[in-house]
Amino acid sequence: MTAAASSERSEPSDRSGTPNGGLSPASFVVVANRLPVDRDIDEDGNSDWRTSPGGLVTALEPVLKSRAGAWVGWVGAPDEDLEPFTHDGMEIIPVPLSGVEVRDYYEGFSNGTLWPLYHDVVAHPEFHREWWDSYLKVNRRFADRAAEIADDGAVVWIQDYQLQLVPQMLRERRPDLKIGFFLHIPFPPTELFQQLPWRREILEGLLGADLVGFQINGGAQNFTRLVRQLAHYPTQRGSIELPDGRRVLARAYPISIQTQEFYDNARLPETAKRAEEIRHELGDPKYLFLGVDRLDYTKGIYQRLRAFGELISDGLLDAEDAVFVQVANPSRERVEEYKRLRDDIERLVGRLNGELGQLGRPPINYMHSFYPRDEMAALYRAADVMVVTPLRDGMNLVAKEYIACRQADDGALVLSEFAGAARELRQAYMINPYDINQMKERMLEAATDAPRNKARRMRILRRQVFEHDIDRWATNFLDDLGSCTRSR
Ligand code: F6P
Repeated sequence: MTAAASSERSEPSDRSGTPNGGLSPASFVVVANRLPVDRDIDEDGNSDWRTSPGGLVTALEPVLKSRAGAWVGWVGAPDEDLEPFTHDGMEIIPVPLSGVEVRDYYEGFSNGTLWPLYHDVVAHPEFHREWWDSYLKVNRRFADRAAEIADDGAVVWIQDYQLQLVPQMLRERRPDLKIGFFLHIPFPPTELFQQLPWRREILEGLLGADLVGFQINGGAQNFTRLVRQLAHYPTQRGSIELPDGRRVLARAYPISIQTQEFYDNARLPETAKRAEEIRHELGDPKYLFLGVDRLDYTKGIYQRLRAFGELISDGLLDAEDAVFVQVANPSRERVEEYKRLRDDIERLVGRLNGELGQLGRPPINYMHSFYPRDEMAALYRAADVMVVTPLRDGMNLVAKEYIACRQADDGALVLSEFAGAARELRQAYMINPYDINQMKERMLEAATDAPRNKARRMRILRRQVFEHDIDRWATNFLDDLGSCTRSR
């Protein structure tokens, strides 16, 4: 048993006891850092739950409902120990985190160590032993909850980098389960991963799964290479043989979106009207550029705004004609690196608008906030050029959302070659976000290209996104997990 393992095990008979609050055992369990529900509090202070917006929840909802499913996750606030409850046919199993654990497990090890390390060290990862201890403790708690709620022989699907130790911990408690794991962010090259003082524990944690899914082939290959180099286990075409004879499969499953829903929502007459209004409010520009991101240093927001500013200051775009709308969703605001990034971007926006704008006509409209789905659909519809320029990104669903919202073969997508989505969306105007001159050229080309060139690209992009939606992603993963041979 490695350091990641717990000595206490929950036997199957424990599952009928109090921990799951009398809820029935689940034959399908999702384990994710966050729960799929948000709390709504009305004016009288009464609270209620509503299903969170987001592709993963929507894609898994039917499976959860049809298979007596449960979702194990954190409610998103510190020091809340809620009883399990049923919401819209799903059993919700909250995992509490203390304030210290939010700091050390979530902001610390997950987002101050793993996040930058897995994103090509575009920011400096910090290694702190107390963060690791917290990660270990919290992963153990998630594994305990999943072990308690899962029925005999259930399928358990663990999500993402915050919970990489859970597969092994869960297998030790419940060898009867089928365990899948999906990593939503990139899996780094071995040279970077090896920096991690707890590399062996993370590797063994993941190998507790029957199937480990990655966004792109490169991630799966990085993982199997690491298995050979660090653990010396034999691998063959993504199949890893463990010393006890068990096999683990490592494969790519590019995640996607509810394409049809995005399309239908953007198609509504009120969305079309709002899209027109937005353009009008922005001064009816000839070229409307759009960026939509979580405010994260991996997204390349600074680089793209600089490129846009230079296009105007070089005289290649006219501030009368071109507007950039940047929506930046607040994120991880207590983490130092994120505070710094926000300051840098807001200073840049202020400087560019001050230098290049006219009264009432700033060339960059920057919004540090969340927008409802309908407003986003209108923005996507209104934009002539969608600019997606991450320095590294597991997939980037914003690129796919923009394409899904097109109502005809128009518009243009500028896309970083370092986004997972670049493997599928090959007809985008591809850029290297580190090359500002190239980014400028491609942004200009995307705006001014002949309509027939744009239409040719967009037709292929739309077909790709419609044929590969998130339901297909979930089905492919779960079918493959179902085909994995049970270890016991
Ligand atoms: O991209 C990885 C991811 O964990 C997403 O699944 C999630 O939407 C995003 O980062 C936001 O993360 P957080 O839970 O830290 O707000």
